[in-house]
Formats: sequence, structure tokens, C-alpha cells
Amino acid sequence: MKIAVLLGGSSPERLVSIASGRGVIKALRELGHDVTAIDPALGEKQISESELLSQGIGTNPPTQEFLEKLSHKNYLSAIDSKIFDDIELAFIILHGKWGEDGIIQSLLELRSIPYTGSGVMASAIAMDKVMSKKLFLHHGTPTAEWYDYQKDSSPRPAFVKKNISKLGYPNVVKPNDQGSSVAITIVKNESELDSALDEAEKISDVVLVEKYIEGAELTVGILGDEPLPVIEIRPHGGFYDYEHKYTKGMTDYLVPAPIEKSFAVKLQEIAINTFQSLGCKTFGRVDFRIGDDQIPYCLEVNTIPGMTETSLVPKAAASAGIPFTQLVQKIVELSIEGK
Ligand SMILES: Nc1ncnc2c1ncn2[C@@H]1O[C@H](COP(=O)(O)OP(=O)(O)O)[C@@H](O)[C@H]1O
Ligand SMILES: [Mg+2]
Repeated sequence: MKIAVLLGGSSPERLVSIASGRGVIKALRELGHDVTAIDPALGEKQISESELLSQGIGTNPPTQEFLEKLSHKNYLSAIDSKIFDDIELAFIILHGKWGEDGIIQSLLELRSIPYTGSGVMASAIAMDKVMSKKLFLHHGTPTAEWYDYQKDSSPRPAFVKKNISKLGYPNVVKPNDQGSSVAITIVKNESELDSALDEAEKISDVVLVEKYIEGAELTVGILGDEPLPVIEIRPHGGFYDYEHKYTKGMTDYLVPAPIEKSFAVKLQEIAINTFQSLGCKTFGRVDFRIGDDQIPYCLEVNTIPGMTETSLVPKAAASAGIPFTQLVQKIVELSIEGK
């Protein structure tokens, strides 16, 4: 099959995407597919695959200045160009804004090119943390109490005064629509709040402040309509930020998670129900923090989770007896079947 792997992109998760793409390209070639690597942020003029794939993730996301050289404005000309003329499937491995949020999916829809993963609306909802949390509550999925505001519409002091006292400290400040923990801060006291809100506002027009959930961090990968084994994430010191996510040895991953079987089954059930209630399909990952009350609070649904060979979904799949190459082929098949 002639497959375009879409990777890179213009979001702060660009380098994670390139790392994910590297493994996916290798697996697809091993499976016998005819693969082209395409970075839509480069537009019609693509660079060589080796140059594209050469950059490592690093311990911090790329700077805004670096990202400004790449533009989402190029996506349109890339998709509309002849590069895509005989492509039978776009394997989207872009993370974050413009890639995981329904935008590139809609451009591919316009060209009638089948693509992997969730559709336009589910991708857009899952990328929007506030919208997702509203739907979690609608469908009975517990989620941490939060307050959100529009960067320009509410004066910050009023928001802070009115709402933060109800959440207490620590709390968690997040941009509404980015991943990889970019611009997320665990705020320990009032003096740290303003700089955390500043950071989040640089990334997103909507910012949320969430109640801090003290307990274990568990995540459930999804493949088709089946949940994969639960993984427990234990970062060494600090929280599961960009550096802990992508630096080898800074986090322990326990799979299957050392939790009671009945709790694992319950969590898997909540994960698949939550994933499907947002309209997501094919593959993904649902993140949780477990409260002192043993309630699994859903943080978010990822529609294009990390796909390096050591990422969470590939780890969970391996634990279920599905090697990486087979996982990639399954994603291709499910996507073609529209599942
Ligand atoms: N409410 C919370 N309580 C405790 N830790 C949190 C909370 N929200 C987020 N975190 C920490 O921040 C990380 C990233 O948060 P998440 O909402 O999953 O955003 P991202 O899309 O960046 O992965 C989580 O994996 C967790 O370690
Ligand atoms: Mg997450």
C-alpha cells in the first residue's frame, strides 16, 4: 500500500512527532508498504527523509523562535500538491496543534485521502481539554475540578480571586490545547501562580487551572474497541513533564500496573467508554490520576499518542502480546475499515 507518514509539523511537539514517525516508517517498510515521509509544515518543498528524521527530542520542547520558521500555513499547499496524488493512506503521526486537533484531518477529507485514527470532530474535542472535561462529566467519567478562562476576555485578578481559592494549592495550570506537558505547571503556592498562567497563555488562548490529584498516575492505551493493559507511570522526582516523558531513565513504567485486577478492569472499562463517548476511534490513550478516594480522575484523551518503540501505547501493546510492527499494521487495517 502507498502510505504517506505525516510527521513533524509546527507544534511544540514537533520533535516528539519526528521520533514517533521514525519508528512507524521503519515498521511500515518492514510490513512491505511503500512509504513516503512528509512534513506538512514544509509545504510542497520537502527535504530529504534522512535530514527530516535526523533531529532528536532533547530535554525541552523547541523554542517559539525555532517553530516560527515552520508554519501551519504550509499544510494547505503540502496536502494540495502532487506529493499526495497517489497516496492510499495518510498515517498521521503529528502531535498537538494542527496535527492532532482535526485540522489536518479535515484537509485530508477535502482531498478524499483516507487517514489513520480519529476523525475531525473527535480529534478537535479530544485536543480541547475543557471541552473534553465537559463531555467526561456528561458521560459520568470523573475528572478533576477546574476553572478555565479566555486569555483576553477575563481580567486575571478577578478570575484568580474568585476561583483559585476554591481549588487550593497545589493546583495545576495548563494550556487548553497542547500536549507533552508543554507549559503545564504544578503551582505550589500563590506566589508561583502568575508566572504559570503567563507560560500557559503563551501556548493557548484558553487556560485551565485544575485541582491537584495526589495519587498514582495510570494510563490506558486503546486499540480498536479494546483497552490495552494498564500502565503505571512513576517519574523520578518532579512530575511527568516534558523532560520526564522523553529522557531515558527519568521515569519508571510498570506494565501491567501493580494494581488489583478488579480495579484494572474497571479502569479499562472507563477508558474505552470515555474514548468512545468523545467519538474517538482506531487507537489512542486515556490518562488518569487516582485520588485518595480511589476515584480515577480522567486527565485527557490522546488521539495520536506517542509512537516511538518505547512509548506508552507500544509498551502496553507489547504487554498484550502485540509487537510494534503488528500494532502499526493493525492501525492501518482499522483505519481502512473505518474503525
Ligand atoms: N490534576 C492533576 N493532578 C496531578 N497531576 C496532574 C494533573 N493534571 C496533570 N498532571 C500532570 O501533568 C501531566 C500532563 O497533564 P495532561 O493533562 O495529561 O496534559 P498533556 O496533554 O500535556 O499530557 C500528567 O501526566 C500529570 O503528571
Ligand atoms: Mg497527558
